[in-house]
Amino acid sequence: MLHLSSRPDPASPMPSFPIFLDLRGRPVLVAGGGDAAASKARLLARAGADILLLAATVGEEMLDLLESGVIQRRETEFRPELLDGVVIAIDGSGDPDLTDRIRCAAFTRNVLVNVVDVPEQCDFTVPAILDRSPVVVAVSTSGGAPALSRNIRQRLEAAIPAGYASLARAAQRARASVRQSLSIPRDRQRFWDRVLSGDLADRLMAMDEDRAVEEIVASLSRFIAGGRDEGGSVTLVGAGPGDPGLLTVSAARAIGSADIILHDALVPDSILALARRETRLVSVGKRAGCRSVPQEFTNRLMATCARKGLRVVRLKGGDPFIFGRAGEEAEFLRGHGVAVTVIPGITAAMGAAAQLGLPLTHRGVARSMRVVTAHCRTSGETDAIDWTKLADPGTTLALYMGRDRLGDIADSLIKAGLPPDTPAALIANACRPDAEVRFAPIAALPGAPALTNPAAPSLILVGDAVALAPGWAMDKMVQVSAA
Ligand SMILES: C[S@@+](CC[C@H](N)C(=O)[O-])C[C@H]1O[C@@H](n2cnc3c(N)ncnc32)[C@H](O)[C@@H]1O
Repeated sequence: MLHLSSRPDPASPMPSFPIFLDLRGRPVLVAGGGDAAASKARLLARAGADILLLAATVGEEMLDLLESGVIQRRETEFRPELLDGVVIAIDGSGDPDLTDRIRCAAFTRNVLVNVVDVPEQCDFTVPAILDRSPVVVAVSTSGGAPALSRNIRQRLEAAIPAGYASLARAAQRARASVRQSLSIPRDRQRFWDRVLSGDLADRLMAMDEDRAVEEIVASLSRFIAGGRDEGGSVTLVGAGPGDPGLLTVSAARAIGSADIILHDALVPDSILALARRETRLVSVGKRAGCRSVPQEFTNRLMATCARKGLRVVRLKGGDPFIFGRAGEEAEFLRGHGVAVTVIPGITAAMGAAAQLGLPLTHRGVARSMRVVTAHCRTSGETDAIDWTKLADPGTTLALYMGRDRLGDIADSLIKAGLPPDTPAALIANACRPDAEVRFAPIAALPGAPALTNPAAPSLILVGDAVALAPGWAMDKMVQVSAA
């Protein structure tokens, strides 16, 4: 193998520098007639490159490219002059001797070479490409793990639907009008932020390009007419129980397009990390036993920001409408003339049940489930819970915010008629890496070994369905396991 580098090899935090080359009409060399070379040639042809093929023999795929005119020039013998004037060369020949000769000729002419599947001989690597032209996303692991690059690209495919292509073209066409009408760069940025994210972007993607351009121009008129104070909104978003993978696509989009996010204490950093860098993050969390931000302050902050034209996301753990005060907040906002939308989330009980493999309803075992809070506004309200209505092993009971009262809860349920051997579970930090669970019959659950983190959010599940969880083991009576 030739060593042609005249460069020092400093340890660099970014070993390759990403650029996008305009290859339209410019000569490139592809060596090799097999499938590896053909797939690179097809890619280069999409970019409009003028391809010179160097191959003594060609396989079926390459023959197709030659016969269809995608490749018009072909040489069968190597000569160093073939690299004269070439912008880049891709060698998919798999022939080490030819590779050495190509690299040598390229080196003396300052032509960058990619040797397919041999990263140590490459001046550049070809990334995994998500093509929504004119939007092109390139993913690279600097040649180290191409399979990972492809995997990342597949994930991006879901996040960047095909509609982005027409959205980008429409935005390109409307750009001059926007520049003319909004002379201040910050105003332009605010306008484009609004157009290119959230509901409006979804609608534009569904339109044909001409209509999308008209709609952008119409939005521009509204933006100018309404000034800076136009177009704010509040979205009450469910963040789910903690795993970012359990966010809905709509929730992830809302987080990614928000100007300001008012979030609960239960929302983990891994979810907040989906916000843009310029998004303001405000913690308005309430945790039992801690000083909390007054609800009135949160309500007013949301209304004020929305009136200023900001996109406000009120981000709550689990589902906003389950013990999340979203009802009160929506009422306040609507009462103050602020538009509100709600994006649901996976509530803690559903997340916990899925993690434990526990069906919340199951034919012949559990006909219903009930979601109950053991923590009410006043102790009087808590004491007033009618336990006789909850004492049914055929109903899966999900008790939120009840861990500190576990002993009272178990006593109350048993006194109300629930059999003491009814299966139960206490799960803390469900759907997070540090999840912990205790299984026991309801009578024994308060005496189960304490959970590691006394402050972790936790949930009590009670009912015969709990015994369907693979972690439940009646013979041990009290089983302790990490979920
Ligand atoms: C104010 S409530 C909010 C519930 C949330 N809106 C939902 O739908 O899950 C907070 C309570 O939810 C439960 N909880 C939330 N996240 C949890 C998790 N990851 N694991 C266990 N319980 C959780 C706990 O009982 C916690 O005290």
